[in-house]
Amino acid sequence: MSERIVTDVLTKPDQVIEQTLRPGAFADFTGQAKVKERLEIAVTAARQRGEALDHILLSGPPGLGKTTMAKILAGAMGATLRETSGPTVEKAADLAGLLTNLEAGDVLFIDEIHRLQKTIEEYLYPAMEDFKLDILIDQGPNARSVRLSLPRFTLIGATTRSGLLSAPLLTRFGIRERLDYYSADQLQRILLRAAGLLKVEIEPAGAMEIARRSRGTPRIANNLLRRVRDYAQVRADGRITSSLADTALAILEIDQYGLDEMDKRILEAIIGKFGGGPVGVNSLAVAVGEEPDTIEEVYEPYLIMEGYLQRTPQGRIASELAYRRLGLKGPTSRQAGLL
Ligand SMILES: Nc1ncnc2c1ncn2[C@@H]1O[C@H](COP(=O)(O)OP(=O)(O)OP(=O)(O)O)[C@@H](O)[C@H]1O
Ligand SMILES: [Mg+2]
Repeated sequence: MSERIVTDVLTKPDQVIEQTLRPGAFADFTGQAKVKERLEIAVTAARQRGEALDHILLSGPPGLGKTTMAKILAGAMGATLRETSGPTVEKAADLAGLLTNLEAGDVLFIDEIHRLQKTIEEYLYPAMEDFKLDILIDQGPNARSVRLSLPRFTLIGATTRSGLLSAPLLTRFGIRERLDYYSADQLQRILLRAAGLLKVEIEPAGAMEIARRSRGTPRIANNLLRRVRDYAQVRADGRITSSLADTALAILEIDQYGLDEMDKRILEAIIGKFGGGPVGVNSLAVAVGEEPDTIEEVYEPYLIMEGYLQRTPQGRIASELAYRRLGLKGPTSRQAGLL
């Protein structure tokens, strides 16, 4: 008989579950092998020297593990993690408050660092480089600047839009790593681990079915696991098999290939409005009602990785595969010639 799902997990809000599933150490963090190796070396080296870790910038699309990795890094350094985010730091005084409260070796994590205001960002430059903070005291003729010394701390910045970061900020991060979409195999492993933690019975083929439709993203995979688990509990015996996952995901109207609404809108626009391309990112952005940067940094990488889209100097072109996925006939010979 299949084991029933533990009820206390069901009543927890999704956010709490996300915390439960978040890997706490390098060993639990699946995928991103090269990034992981480089960061582990940096941590070990810094520890051996008894120094603070270099400043680290983690970039990549949402849900791929930037926050998770920042926490793992702080943990591995045995450092205290202080968290904030770009939009939360409204005044220079907010940042000054955060910086002056740091102790040697602490990690300051600034999420969505691309959303820091320019004027505030400038305070970070000397803080990151020389561990100094220039504060302006008084106004008008009495205004003077005082230079405070800060302890050696580590700044970890996370951003989904590294393209929006200014060069002075970018270059002050000694280590810059980009997280990439996960393969279905890696997501399957992540799902099997998550199922174990949530005490959900799942077959490897069931995990694979969910993995394939998760858009290369662990957060989506974990979310789908919870929805499929609900279905398994209510409509079956709680065990997630491949066919059960398939049925549950069909009910949830999750695309068979893991494409989300915006992915489809982008492909439909290129094909329907621009004859398959090439089309410039700005025109495409207007057509789908999204910012050009977001299309470039968040949506396109997945579509390119999966072979739906090609980026050429003339613009974006939808591939044969994109036509097939949308149930359309292939591109005309003119476009095919461009591919
Ligand atoms: N490599 C991984 N192995 C296992 N689980 C992971 C991994 N990466 C992410 N996750 C899971 O995905 C969830 C989302 O990850 P995380 O919050 O770190 O993403 P993020 O990149 O910070 O996203 P955002 O840009 O939206 O802030 C985590 O709670 C964790 O459960
Ligand atoms: Mg995050």
